Amino acid sequence: MTNLVLYRKYRPQRFEEVIGQEHVVQTLTNSIKGNNIGHAYLFSGPKGSGKTTIARLFAKAINCQNKKEGQFEPCDKCGSCLEIMGSKSMDLIEIDAASHTGVDDIRELIEGIKFSPVKSKYKIFIIDECHQLSKSASNALLKTLEEPPAHAIFLLATTESHKMLATILSRCQKFDFKRLQVPEIIKKLEFISKKENVKFDDSALSLIALNARGSFRDAESLLDQCLSFADGGSLIKTEDIKELLGIVEVSEISKFVDFLVAKNAKDAILFLNSIIDNGVDLQEFTKTLVFYLRQQLLLKINPNFLNLQNSGLANSDLEKMKQQTESLTQKDLQNMLELFIDAENKIKYSAVAQLPLELAIINITNQE
Ligand SMILES: Nc1ncnc2c1ncn2[C@@H]1O[C@H](COP(=O)(O)OP(=O)(O)O)[C@@H](O)[C@H]1O
Ligand SMILES: [Mg+2]
Ligand SMILES: [Zn+2]
Repeated sequence: MTNLVLYRKYRPQRFEEVIGQEHVVQTLTNSIKGNNIGHAYLFSGPKGSGKTTIARLFAKAINCQNKKEGQFEPCDKCGSCLEIMGSKSMDLIEIDAASHTGVDDIRELIEGIKFSPVKSKYKIFIIDECHQLSKSASNALLKTLEEPPAHAIFLLATTESHKMLATILSRCQKFDFKRLQVPEIIKKLEFISKKENVKFDDSALSLIALNARGSFRDAESLLDQCLSFADGGSLIKTEDIKELLGIVEVSEISKFVDFLVAKNAKDAILFLNSIIDNGVDLQEFTKTLVFYLRQQLLLKINPNFLNLQNSGLANSDLEKMKQQTESLTQKDLQNMLELFIDAENKIKYSAVAQLPLELAIINITNQE
């Protein structure tokens, strides 16, 4: 069970394995079936939602040498499929605009699209985090998109499409990837743990899914940590996961917010220090707290903002949150959020890690 790296091992290799993103999958597979492939696609959405996965899958499918008329799944056996799966294809070029520093390299690469594919039907460029392309690289890309060679396909992926050139956007078919829902993440975690032959408590997988906040990648690396902890066969309990990952439970956050509502600085600070002693990670605690307060703010603005499925909260937690929100004004919540977001940023640099949080507590409980 060593060296798992689940997110590589379980990256979907066929469209049927992709969870969620139905609208994207359907449009792409239809265009493969109908042999109606565009020159530029933009995949936009949160991290870990499947942008890179689907880009590679699409590339593999359209260059597959065994694909028959009307089919869309890649065969995974032909030379092209095997090369793509082994990251060895000369006709699939992947560029990470975020880590690539040599600006001119990228421009040259993009200009290299002029040359015909080596072995396959298409020459495909996947450009990740493409909102980070330099100005000159963006312009080179734009020029190519204005008159793309027949064999060229660009698959652009970004978490921040609003930062991209409007002229580039207007030349792409745009696909919005959705943040994944907790039940979708649980489904995949169940699949992986079955394959890996590890058993989990009922609520253990939902705890992991909740903490992944919509990212499959995060869910899979949390699961990775749990699997190496379990070391084969045994049952993983919710308690283990909490301890192992330093995860904070909603009920704990809720108790903490109770102290803030009661303007009880002493117990709030004692509580904070006791959970630190129990091994809860401070960054994690603050992140979950901010997440919780934001949900309260949304509730305050409009009770319909939070539906159960999206909130990822258990019924009882949501009820408790609603009650608690009654005794807070919108201004209170806004203020608390600002103070804790500020504290979160300061934790890293503080000599006493919990001090920024303690100051925020005092600030909140001192207010009239
Ligand atoms: N829609 C999905 N269905 C199944 N697994 C997914 C999905 N999206 C992401 N994953 C899993 O998460 C990992 C990271 O996904 P990736 O495609 O790299 O995300 P992104 O490029 O959007 O940040 C993949 O290797 C895969 O295991
Ligand atoms: Mg990616
Ligand atoms: Zn193939």
